[in-house]
Amino acid sequence: MTLQQSDTPLTTSKPIRHFLQLADLSRDELEHVLERARIIKDKFKRYEPYRPLDDMTLAMVFEKASTRTRVSFEAGMYQMGGAVIHLTTSDSQLGRSEPIEDTARVVSRMVDIIMIRTFEQTRIEAFSKYSRVPVINGLTNEYHPCQILADVFTFLEHRQSIQGKVVTWIGDANNMAYTWIQAAQLLGFTLHFSAPKGYQLDPGRLQGIPAGVYRSFDDPIAACEGAHLITTDVWTSMGYEAENEVRKQAFQHWCVDQRMMACASPDALFMHCLPAHRGEEVSADVIDGPQSVVWEEAENRLHAQKALMEFLLLGKV
Ligand code: CP
Ligand code: NVA
Repeated sequence: MTLQQSDTPLTTSKPIRHFLQLADLSRDELEHVLERARIIKDKFKRYEPYRPLDDMTLAMVFEKASTRTRVSFEAGMYQMGGAVIHLTTSDSQLGRSEPIEDTARVVSRMVDIIMIRTFEQTRIEAFSKYSRVPVINGLTNEYHPCQILADVFTFLEHRQSIQGKVVTWIGDANNMAYTWIQAAQLLGFTLHFSAPKGYQLDPGRLQGIPAGVYRSFDDPIAACEGAHLITTDVWTSMGYEAENEVRKQAFQHWCVDQRMMACASPDALFMHCLPAHRGEEVSADVIDGPQSVVWEEAENRLHAQKALMEFLLLGKV
């Protein structure tokens, strides 16, 4: 038996489903997960126990810091009857250069599902290739699909449908922005994008995206016109800290403030994946104002990821 064969999962009846980017789900599957999030949240609010993952174990591997992702996955798995193991680079052999492929082979023999927050997308892809269980992207440099799942769910709770709507992204072409574009393509809305020169979308990553899915604007105010949702993120994502001071200069006119909100649709929502820096990417009166839904958005990580884990482990229930 070759090494590759011995790494083959014991149960091969169903292909393993990973969630490495939002587009790993079809539209139908995404809509299913969003609907399950609604049902699972409703049970939670009614204190109705729901433990379909009894006896299952989630391993979480964090190579970058986290508050929301850790708490929502950990609480979510416990609430669904499972158990959780929390690993970081510094307290595991990853910090001493154990290959990611070997970590995947070992951890996936002992648990049922794995969430990873790491740097390059290629790193999570390498991990998933050697994993015998589903792998979830808890954020990479390229994508943050769990966050967008929660964000779309939050929008639907407020506005019922996102199809045909305009979502405005104010900020650099980061993991959130590219995942919003995948959501726009899957669900049929338009993403308005505005960033300073040097921080714009990479056409190489947008090949095959049909016209109408996104529009780029030099002027952030113009990007907000008619928006049903305005959303932003820190100017410097994790892993890019050396660029912090240069970015502060470049992004000074890309702060979501009342002037931008006033250009949007009167009932526009404001979202931010958090953590936020008031006075940088968003003014305090916007994030703490009546159009902001950031606390629900953060809570919805819990419900959306419970639905996601249910789907990856049990299929459509
Ligand atoms: N939004 C988000 O992923 O938050 P954390 O970095 O705290 O997990
Ligand atoms: N774009 C940010 C999101 C943090 C949740 C980052 O990658 O740091």
